[in-house]
Amino acid sequence: MQPWNLSPVVDPRCRCPLHERPTRAGHRRPGSVGVVELEGHLEELFDAAAAVRERAHSPYSRYPVGAAIRTVEGDLFVGCNVENAAFPEGTCAEAGAIAAMVAGAGPTARIAEILTVAGGARPGSPCGGCRQKIREFATPETRIVSTTPGAAAIGWTMAELLPGGFGPDDLPV
Ligand code: THU
Repeated sequence: MQPWNLSPVVDPRCRCPLHERPTRAGHRRPGSVGVVELEGHLEELFDAAAAVRERAHSPYSRYPVGAAIRTVEGDLFVGCNVENAAFPEGTCAEAGAIAAMVAGAGPTARIAEILTVAGGARPGSPCGGCRQKIREFATPETRIVSTTPGAAAIGWTMAELLPGGFGPDDLPV
């Protein structure tokens, strides 16, 4: 998989396996978007997301998306986008994967990595609503990766995708 040379790489403080190694595309700028290579544990997520993408219901956008989550405990959950003739009722792949995670592992599950596969010349990025949905089950170590088949991958931390985002700790309960 060729890296998509958007802008160079990741938070230098990050020591997760995703970011341990410099990529071919560049190196290290704090807070910047990261171009990542899919290796090891991410390949498994990519395969799962690519497989579930085949089942997407996206007749209106013709933009099928697959998502795969690995939880902190190591379990894998997948989802795809499910559109609706009443357009606003459609749901994103990330939302489907999060629902599967909660259904399968319960509400205390946390996302270690979430990876999406979508079409197009370059990876998309999670929509605003999905960023908030991921935030609900994120940890400071959560990594979000967007990919396209045969092209490239980009990775972010939760803080990069949703700086200052509202979370469960903000509620006085
Ligand atoms: N979509 C996702 O599933 N995830 C995203 O992060 C971005 C957008 C879906 C929603 C809709 O079915 C189609 O892609 C086009 O927006």
